Amino acid sequence: MNKLSTLILTGIVGFSPMLPAQAVDLRSLRGDRPLDIGSKRPARADVILPDAGEFPKSYDTHPPMIPHKVDKTRISLKQNQCLRCHGELEHKEIDAPMVSKTHFINRAGKRLGHVSTRYYFCTQCHAPQIDKTPLVTNVFGQQSSH
Ligand code: HEC
Ligand code: HEC
Repeated sequence: MNKLSTLILTGIVGFSPMLPAQAVDLRSLRGDRPLDIGSKRPARADVILPDAGEFPKSYDTHPPMIPHKVDKTRISLKQNQCLRCHGELEHKEIDAPMVSKTHFINRAGKRLGHVSTRYYFCTQCHAPQIDKTPLVTNVFGQQSSH
């Protein structure tokens, strides 16, 4: 047996105690439904609107949350319907806030004449809000500071 195959064999032998499947009591967020049966569709929830014009922010550079419905607003490669209201020119007509000036700056720090692709998918950062109990407890901001 050459040196390489001895090494490989040792490797396999070394791992073998871990091979038998261990029964672990796992329960995913979709419940214990088998993977080949579709998960239950969560109940629809209406978006909530902020009391005082905007939702409170959790920290300084927090992207403002969306204070209106967006379920019919589409963002695709061909169109961005958010910009129909929040674009540099469009926002004046609609009387909507303009996208932040930071959204025109590309990765190299250059200001472009249009929203940078870094900021194109608005809902990556801005989200509407619903009044639901979170699936997972969120302790952001409650942990001790460093
Ligand atoms: C039909 C016009 C319209 C469309 C489309 C629209 N918005 Fe708005 N948006 C507004 C207006 C008007 C406001 C000002 C608050 C209000 O009146 O609800 C606003 C407020 C906001 C704010 C809050 C800004 C702040 O400073 O607090 C965010 C964030 C926002 N919109 C993001 C979006 C995103 C993301 C989309 C696309 C998914 C979108 N909006 C689509 C009109 C629009
Ligand atoms: C990478 C995260 C990110 C993306 C993507 C993004 N935004 Fe923002 N947005 C922010 C942050 C953070 C702010 C707060 C101001 C700032 O830091 O520029 C903001 C601010 C805003 C504001 C408020 C501006 C003001 O003067 O108060 C509007 C409106 C807005 N964004 C709309 C949009 C729209 C529309 C898109 C998509 C074309 C978009 N944003 C994409 C992070 C993002």
